[in-house]
Amino acid sequence: MGEERKIPAHVAIIMDGNGRWAKKRGLPRTAGHKKGAEVVEQILEDADHMGIRYLTVYAFSTENWQRPALEVKTLMNLLRAYMRSSQEKCAKNNVCVRVIGDRSALDEDLQEAIAELEEKTAKNTGIHFQIAINYGGRDEILRAVKRIAGEAESGTLSARNLTQEDIAARLDTHDLPDPDLLIRTCGEQRISNFLLWQCAYAEFYFTDVAWPDFTKEELERAIDAYNHRERRYGGLVTE
Ligand code: FPP
Repeated sequence: MGEERKIPAHVAIIMDGNGRWAKKRGLPRTAGHKKGAEVVEQILEDADHMGIRYLTVYAFSTENWQRPALEVKTLMNLLRAYMRSSQEKCAKNNVCVRVIGDRSALDEDLQEAIAELEEKTAKNTGIHFQIAINYGGRDEILRAVKRIAGEAESGTLSARNLTQEDIAARLDTHDLPDPDLLIRTCGEQRISNFLLWQCAYAEFYFTDVAWPDFTKEELERAIDAYNHRERRYGGLVTE
C-alpha cells in the first residue's frame, strides 16, 4: 500500500443508537432521531469534501414498522421534511439523491416527494446519496427473484444461463458500486439485513459512538481503519 490514504468510493452506514442517545439525556427517543437526521446531513457534506463518491444510509428498515406508532410517524416526518426541503442544497452541492427499498408501502405524499427530489437531482454529478427506506436486504433480493421468475416465465430471460450480474441488475442498487466500507455505530456488531448481497466484500467498521454523536473525525477514524485493512476478495496478497 502506498503512502497516500485511500478514500473508499462507497461508504454505507447503519446509524444506530438514536434511542439510547436520547434516553441517556432524559429525552424521548424521537429527539434522538431528530438529532440523528441533522447529523446525516452534516456527514453527507463531510463525506463529499473527503472525496467519497457514494454514501448510503439505513434510515428505516422493513422491521422498523414494529416500533411504536409515534416513533414511526416521527421518522417518516423527518424523511418527508428532508425530501421537501433539500432541493436547493442538493443543487448547490451537486448531490444526487436516491431512495432504495420498497417505497410502495409509504404514504403517497412521501412517495411523491421522494420521486420529485430524485428527479430534480438525477443529473447531479457530485456525491450520490442513497437513503434506505422500508429497506431490507432479504426483501430486496426477494423482489429481484420475483422479477427474474416473471421474466423466465415469459421467456425474456433464460433461467439456465442466469448470472450474478442478472441478479445484481435487479436489485435497488443496480447502478451503484458495492460498498467498500460499512460503518455501524453504537456498539452492535451485526448487519441487520442491510445490503446483504452488496456487502459480500465490504470492510466492516464498528464504533461505540452513538449516531447523534457521530462526527467528521469519527468518519476519518473509520477511513483510517479501512486503510489498514488488506482487501483480498478471497484471493492471495499480491504485494
Ligand atoms: C437506529 O437507532 C436508527 C434508526 C432506526 C433511524 C435512523 C434514521 C435517522 C437518523 C433519520 C434519517 C433522516 C434522513 C434525513 C436520512 P435506534 O432507534 O435503533 O437506537 P437504539 O438502538 O439506541 O434504540
